[in-house]
Amino acid sequence: MRLLRLLLPVALAAVVAPPLQPALAAAARDPYPAECPWMNTRKSAGERAALLLAASTPEQRMRWLVEHPANQPSGTTFSGVTYPPQVPCTPNVTYTDGPDSVRGPAGVTTFPAQIGLAASWNADLAFAKGRAQGAEAFGKGRNVVLGPGLASGRTPLSGRTPEYLGEDALLGGTLAAAHVNGLQKGDPERPVMAVLKHYLGNEQELDRQLSSSNMDERTLRQVYDLPFEVTLGGSSPGAVMCSYNQVNGVYACENPMLKEVLKDGFDGYVMSDFGSVHSTGPSVAAGMDQELNRPRFLTPDLLKAAIAAGEISQAQLDAAAFRVVRAYLKAGLFDHPVPAVPAEDVSTPEHKAVSQAIAAQGSVLLKNDPRILPISKRAGRIAVIGPTASNTPTNGVSANTVCGMRGFGAGDCKITPVAPLDAITRRAAAQGATVTFDNGADLASAAATARDADVAIVFGYYTMGEGADRPNLNLDNGGDALIEAVAAANPETVVVLETGSAVLMPWLGRVKAVLEAWYPGDQQGTAIARLLWGDDNPSGRLPMTFPKDVADLPTRTPEQYPGVFADGGTVRPPGDRTSIRQVNYTEGLKVGYKWYDSEGVEPLFPFGHGLSYTSFAYEGLRLDRHRDGFTARFRVRNTGARTGTETAQLYVTLPGRAAEPGRRLAGFEQVTLRPGQSRTIEVKVRADAADHPLSVWDTAAGRWTTVPGTYRVQAGRSSRDLPLSAAVRLP
Ligand code: BGC
Repeated sequence: MRLLRLLLPVALAAVVAPPLQPALAAAARDPYPAECPWMNTRKSAGERAALLLAASTPEQRMRWLVEHPANQPSGTTFSGVTYPPQVPCTPNVTYTDGPDSVRGPAGVTTFPAQIGLAASWNADLAFAKGRAQGAEAFGKGRNVVLGPGLASGRTPLSGRTPEYLGEDALLGGTLAAAHVNGLQKGDPERPVMAVLKHYLGNEQELDRQLSSSNMDERTLRQVYDLPFEVTLGGSSPGAVMCSYNQVNGVYACENPMLKEVLKDGFDGYVMSDFGSVHSTGPSVAAGMDQELNRPRFLTPDLLKAAIAAGEISQAQLDAAAFRVVRAYLKAGLFDHPVPAVPAEDVSTPEHKAVSQAIAAQGSVLLKNDPRILPISKRAGRIAVIGPTASNTPTNGVSANTVCGMRGFGAGDCKITPVAPLDAITRRAAAQGATVTFDNGADLASAAATARDADVAIVFGYYTMGEGADRPNLNLDNGGDALIEAVAAANPETVVVLETGSAVLMPWLGRVKAVLEAWYPGDQQGTAIARLLWGDDNPSGRLPMTFPKDVADLPTRTPEQYPGVFADGGTVRPPGDRTSIRQVNYTEGLKVGYKWYDSEGVEPLFPFGHGLSYTSFAYEGLRLDRHRDGFTARFRVRNTGARTGTETAQLYVTLPGRAAEPGRRLAGFEQVTLRPGQSRTIEVKVRADAADHPLSVWDTAAGRWTTVPGTYRVQAGRSSRDLPLSAAVRLP
């Protein structure tokens, strides 16, 4: 937790510092070139965008509607389409994928997967990550980061779960906003623009381009739009990316929800995903402003034809260009051009410290029973088992293949991480212990290695990523059998998991401790060793429910997942490349912990769960009503023997009339406490907050509404460990 304390002042200072000092920036850049009045930094971004577009030809305006819209070194011919040179003083605008790290070039930090960031429940850390990632993007000559990403965790099988921020709108939206703010405001001299993605209902990779996520309006608002709304309530990303899938039979990038829901209050622009555009006129008319990757549907010829056909007006096209240019100006991209020559290595010690802090604070101690961890000084012989513990590949698998940057398939890392085996060997040596490694390829050999040790640390993993869903939630490569064999040989077994989503644990009763480290990035070894030996005290909490069985998931029928075709089957008919898989979100609001709680399904580990090497007590919940909600106050006390960080969680159950499943997270706060120390936690719950903690979507009225009645309020350590309870009546 020392790192957290070191990082906090940096992150907080950056939060409170004014994002840009307009007067200074203006003075530094005055006088601006006479032919570029849009470079006058005394004017607003909107005024500047209007000036620029007024001086542009129609084709120059159309150029803003595709990626790489400004003066690229590559010239003006882009994917076979030739544009006139852009007006002067336009910067290079170059995109890079996120959201975990700057994707592509070498010499960048490989941060842990976003699901691990979510498990930290630490918005300051998300800000610090955005700041570091933004600086790296800028140094590499990229000034738009395609991230962070959000989904609602409808099924843990969804391939991109590690890229997202868990199953709760408040948690995910809060961290996404902090990530966006870190990217966009973390370093005013090296600004980058963030793109929130993927809007909306991109909850599976299977047939993501040929499926329709079918849901009612209340579900759309409360489950799938809400994380975006929370993020937009706490930050201003320059753009939001529309997703591949259809929503209720209409492709997301030409869906009326773009204007009716997303753009209601959002003044950035909407960009497509790679190849998620299916039309010219309907897409622009629906509010999609820019085509990502290359001009296919938004070419000048097709745009002119759409205008001629009356599908869109010139004004609509200009409005799209305006939103794009205004967003770039607002983000500072015009006033702070990226370096002409990208730096070779942009991963600084400070960025690596952030990466390590995310790995440390995002790792969740799921079980420690009886307290086998931290590893005792008396343990002289340590066995480390499993292919992902080491940087030396076993059948192509190593620490590097679970490094946190997931493209299509495994092994997308650009740098060799600090391997757990190396860090553990060093840490053990510091107290005179020795380490024996077994790669786990042979069960008998692994068991023998475990038998000869005082403690066996066995690593289990599975890979997942964009392009495909997980077929199951079991460990890859015989991981379950390996853990069974090790645990049978040595009862003092500790499991370290590296997965991008929930895991089934058939061996749970036979091991003493489980640490879920997700895909922990380039500093994984140091972070894991420090947690195992207690140099850092675990504080991560699950951002998603871990089920006991795949049959327990809310998506129980084939119509819900993976979705069906006209013949009722789940398998795409051979040769059929056009039929749309219908995925019916009939579980409605019952997603994530709300499903388990309302249906009485016992999870393996609940949302919000995570252990510490100390213990905490909760005392005295008091509620004070105010005009638009209430304030909850309660005390958290460290009742153990060492300093630790607790994430206190507040949940609200709405009155029965609201017809809401289970309870919902309405606030959380992190406190670091010394032994015996206590602190009062104060959570203000306001009906009009961006996460609408007390409201439901009233479809008939088309607005959020608060149902009068008694609201039950509970506080505690997880969604299922809530020792404090009180009630408040709201009018
Ligand atoms: C992904 C996006 C990503 C884009 C560019 C697409 O396949 O869906 O999330 O931003 O590629 O890398």
